[in-house]
Amino acid sequence: MSRVDKFNPLAKGSAIDQKRDALRGGTCGKAQIEEPKFDEIRRDAITFNLATDVLYPISAGKEASIFLALWKDHPIVLKAYRLWSTPHKLSTTKGHIRESSGKKTRWILGLIEDIAVAEFDVLQDCFNAGVRIPTPISRVANYLTMRFIGDGETPAPQLREVELDDPETVMNEIFDQYLKMYRDAHYTHGDLSAYNILWWKNHPWIIDVPQSETVNKWSDMNKVELFLRRDINNVLKYFTSYGIERDPEHILNVFLDAYIPSNLRNYRELRNEGLELT
Ligand SMILES: Nc1ncnc2c1ncn2[C@@H]1O[C@H](COP(=O)(O)OP(=O)(O)OP(=O)(O)O)[C@@H](O)[C@H]1O
Ligand SMILES: [Mg+2]
Repeated sequence: MSRVDKFNPLAKGSAIDQKRDALRGGTCGKAQIEEPKFDEIRRDAITFNLATDVLYPISAGKEASIFLALWKDHPIVLKAYRLWSTPHKLSTTKGHIRESSGKKTRWILGLIEDIAVAEFDVLQDCFNAGVRIPTPISRVANYLTMRFIGDGETPAPQLREVELDDPETVMNEIFDQYLKMYRDAHYTHGDLSAYNILWWKNHPWIIDVPQSETVNKWSDMNKVELFLRRDINNVLKYFTSYGIERDPEHILNVFLDAYIPSNLRNYRELRNEGLELT
């Protein structure tokens, strides 16, 4: 289940809707994720002063669409998170209702907006910590803009699409960047892989951070460890195709030696005693 879907307040619909659905075999009452229309996105982006033009979609992922946009003559990236639409009249407490067109289609914006806010914050914090990620530019509602990584109007390829001359150096660079993100900005990425790293000007660029989790004194370090291990393994998996093998636990320990919130330093001992902090 995607993050957008996870937060869908009407994923199942009300009890009465579910019953009606079961009888009719329909989907009424459920909020559904809709592909936003290009013209509408372009109009919003220009109205919100996020871009002076939107040229074309670069990619349509599970949760968001990515567009090449312009700020005057400069190419930038516009990321538009999907909205939920519902055939029913909704209470405004379930989210901000953006548009009213009778009972047929309404949009729930509030919770989707939170995901765009989260991604923008992570990008900003990582940028401030010196991590090589696209510089965030602006955010309004479910839209955010960032630096375009690529040449002219051609986006940089994903790491999985390129043939590296010096894979070992690149791998070390990725882990250095991720260590900076974790140790200095205090985030786990949560979806790091050769899909979410772009290769541009001989350097890896980490992207796609809406599922990043902040690591602070209230964190569950067992979960943090899990996210870090999964990210490290995903990166290592890509480099096995170059015949590079590394011990993921060793890399994980480098991360944990570099930063654990001070009140959580003994989380492993507590775990051994069966006192899990969950
Ligand atoms: N700043 C950028 N510059 C250039 N291209 C980008 C940029 N951000 C994203 N892209 C392109 O768009 C693709 C999708 O971006 P991203 O992974 O952030 O979106 P997503 O909707 O979360 O995608 P998915 O669900 O497939 O992971 C990237 O793989 C990349 O090709
Ligand atoms: Mg992605």
